[in-house]
Amino acid sequence: MTGEDAGGISTKMSKPVPVSRLSEGEAAAELERLAQEIAAHDRRYHAEDAPTISDAAYDALKKRNAAIEAKFPHLVRADSPSRKVGAAPVDKFAKVRHGAPMLSLDNAFDDEDVTDFVDRIRKFLALPSSEVLAFTAEPKIDGLSASLRYEGGRLVRGATRGDGAVGEDVTANLRTLGCVPQVLKGRGIPDVIEVRGEVFLSHEDFFRLNREQEARGEKSFANPRNAAAGSLRQLDPEVTARRPLRFFAYTWGEASALPGVTQTAVIEAFAAWGFPTNPLMTRCERVDEILAYYAKIAEQRASLGYDIDGVVYKVDRLDFQQRLGFVSRAPRWAIAHKFPAEQAQTELLDIDIQVGRTGTLTPVAKLKPVTVGGVVVSNATLHNEDEIARKDVRIGDTVVVQRAGDVIPQVVRVVTERRPHGAKPFGFPETCPVCGSHAVRELDASGEASAARRCTGGLVCPAQAAERLKHFVSRDAFDIEGFGSKHVDAFLADGLLSHPSDIFLLEDRHGAGPAAIATREGWGPQSAAKLFAAIRARRTIGLSRFIFALGIRHVGEATARVLAQNYGSAAAFIDAMTAAADEDSKAFSELDAIEGIGETVAKAIAEFFAEDHNREEVRRLIGLVDVEDAEKPKTDTVVSGKTIVFTGTLEKMTRNEAKARAESLGAKVAGSVSAKTDLVVAGPGAGSKLKDAQKHGVKVISEDEWLSMIGG
Ligand code: IVH
Repeated sequence: MTGEDAGGISTKMSKPVPVSRLSEGEAAAELERLAQEIAAHDRRYHAEDAPTISDAAYDALKKRNAAIEAKFPHLVRADSPSRKVGAAPVDKFAKVRHGAPMLSLDNAFDDEDVTDFVDRIRKFLALPSSEVLAFTAEPKIDGLSASLRYEGGRLVRGATRGDGAVGEDVTANLRTLGCVPQVLKGRGIPDVIEVRGEVFLSHEDFFRLNREQEARGEKSFANPRNAAAGSLRQLDPEVTARRPLRFFAYTWGEASALPGVTQTAVIEAFAAWGFPTNPLMTRCERVDEILAYYAKIAEQRASLGYDIDGVVYKVDRLDFQQRLGFVSRAPRWAIAHKFPAEQAQTELLDIDIQVGRTGTLTPVAKLKPVTVGGVVVSNATLHNEDEIARKDVRIGDTVVVQRAGDVIPQVVRVVTERRPHGAKPFGFPETCPVCGSHAVRELDASGEASAARRCTGGLVCPAQAAERLKHFVSRDAFDIEGFGSKHVDAFLADGLLSHPSDIFLLEDRHGAGPAAIATREGWGPQSAAKLFAAIRARRTIGLSRFIFALGIRHVGEATARVLAQNYGSAAAFIDAMTAAADEDSKAFSELDAIEGIGETVAKAIAEFFAEDHNREEVRRLIGLVDVEDAEKPKTDTVVSGKTIVFTGTLEKMTRNEAKARAESLGAKVAGSVSAKTDLVVAGPGAGSKLKDAQKHGVKVISEDEWLSMIGG
C-alpha cells in the first residue's frame, strides 16, 4: 500500500462520507482513488495470488464505486472498475490470425519518390492524364498498430500486428481504452469488420507516465511509442487501464461490407460509428497539393502533441485500391512519406547532474540553444555515465543533437574535429550533487555494475524527500492514517516537513500544531485532531515495520522481517548495521550470511548506514518513537524451519494472517513453489502452484488440515 492508500478511502477508513453528501469534486477524487485501490486489489488477487482484503471488503469498495457512478454518471472513468470485463491476466498472450493480413507501407523519402509513386499508379491503372486520381493524406502516427474485430457491431477481439498474419490477442487490454467503442452505433454497420489504426500516447501523457514510473521506482520509457507498446502488451489489463492510451482508426482488414466506395467515406463512417479518426486527414487531387500538405504537416509536427514520423498517402477510390493490390507485404495504393531525421549541431556548454525522486543521477547536456525540427533545444539527455564515456562527450565539444522519437532530444555523437584544445574527459560525480551522500553503482547478480548511479542518502536527500516521506507514512510502514500523498506534498512544499522525524515533532512545533494545521486548505479542527491522534498512535512500532519504513533500497517487508528477527531490538540492529557499514567487518559478513539476505541487499544496507546523515536521522527517530523488540521465531514447532506456500482462497483467515501465523511459528512463507518448498496449503481455486507442487513432489494439504496441524 502506498501513502495515498493510507490517506484515501481504504478498507481501514472508519466511516466514508455518504455518497449523497459528496460534492462533484469529492466524487471525482474518490472515483480516482477507488479505481486505483480496486485495481491494486485485483492485481494482488489475480496476478500475485495474494489478496490483502476479504471478499466482503472488496465488494464494499466496488459497491461504493457503483453508487458514486450512479449519482455522477458523467464522472465514470475510462479505467473505472465497473467497465472492466473479466480482467484475469494471462501467462502469455494467445495468438490470433487476422481476418486479413496487416500490411506495412513502402516509404518515400523525397518529392521525387512521391511523384514516382503517383506516376506508377496512373500507369498501372492506365489512367489518362485527364482523369482525376485522388489521394487521402494524413499524418503517420508513431505508435503501434492494432486491429479491432467487430461482429454484429460488438467488439469481439483486439490484436496487435504481430508478424502481419498472426498477432497477439490483447482484447482485454484494448477494451480498457476509453476511446475504443465496445459497441458500434449508427448506420451501415457490417456483420463483420476489422477496424485498424494506431495506438499511441500524447506527449503530455507520456511525460506524466514517466514521472509516475520514476516516482514508483519503476523504469521510465525512452519514447512515447515504447511506452504505448509496453502499456498495450501488459499481461495485466488493469495496468493498461491506467495508461492513457489513444487510438486513431485509419484502415480496415476483413469486412463483410464497407460503408462507402472511397477511403474518405469509410473513415468518415468510422468516425460516425464512434471511432477517433485523425482530424488532419484530407483529400488531394494533385501531386503539388500532396506536397503542400506534407510541408504543412512538417511545420505543425512540433505542436501536434503526439509523435508522427511522416505522412501517409492512400488512393481514395476503393475500386482502384482493389485493382492495384499488393507487392509483397505492402499495398501498391499507399505510401509513407517519411520526415528526414531532425538533427543539428551545437555546443555542449555543461553537463548537469539531476537527481530523480528515487535517487538516480541522470546527466543532462546543457546546450547552446539550437533549432531541431522547429523546436528550440537547450537540454538533451545523456542517459548515464557509460553513455558519456562511450561517446566520449566532453564539455566544450560540438555535438550532433537529434530529436529521437521526436520528444526527447539526444546527443548522438561528438564532432571530434571541432573539439577545443584541452577539453577533458568528463568525470562523473561519485557524490550526490543535492545532498552530498555517496552515489554508487550497484552490481547485479552477474557482478556487472548497473548503468545508473544512485544517491545513498535516501533518508536525508531533499531530491528524494517526497518519496521517502510517502513510503514512511504508508500502510505497511508507519501506517499514519489520514496522511496521504497529497498531504505529504503540501507539507513538504510549505517547509513543515523534510525528514521523517519531523512528523513526530510537528505537534509541538510553532505554527505546525493542530490549530495551525486545522486552518490549512482541506483541513479542519476534526481532521487535524485525527491526524495528530494517528501520529501519536504510531509512536510505538514493531521493529520490522520500523526497518521497512527507513526505505533502504532492496529492503522490502519480507527482508525487514528477517532483519528484525535476526537482530531482535532496534539498538542491536542499529549497532550491528553501523558496524556493517565497513564491508570488511565481521558485522558485514554476519549480515551477508543471514538466510534471505543476498549480497545486493547487504551492500545496500551497508551503504545506507555508511552515510552519517542517515545514521543521524535513524537516531533522531529512535529518540522520538518506541520501537518494540521482535519476537524471536520459534524453533520448536511442527513447522519451524519449513518453507510453506499458500495458494487459492483461504476461507478461515486472510492470506496475511496465515502468513503472519506461519512465520510466528518459525516457518518461512514463500510466494512460489520450488523443490525447496516443504508444504503447500491450498484453498479453492488454486491453480498453477498446485501443478508445481505435483511436479516437485511437494506435499499439499487443505486449510483445515493446516489448522489442525498447527493447533487451530
Ligand atoms: S495505413 C495498408 N495509415 O505505419 C495500410 N498506417 O509503416 C496500412 N501507421 O503498420 C497502414 N500511421 O502501424 C496507415 N495513418 C496511417 C498510419 C499508419 C501510422 C503505421 C502502421 C503501419 C506502419 C507501416
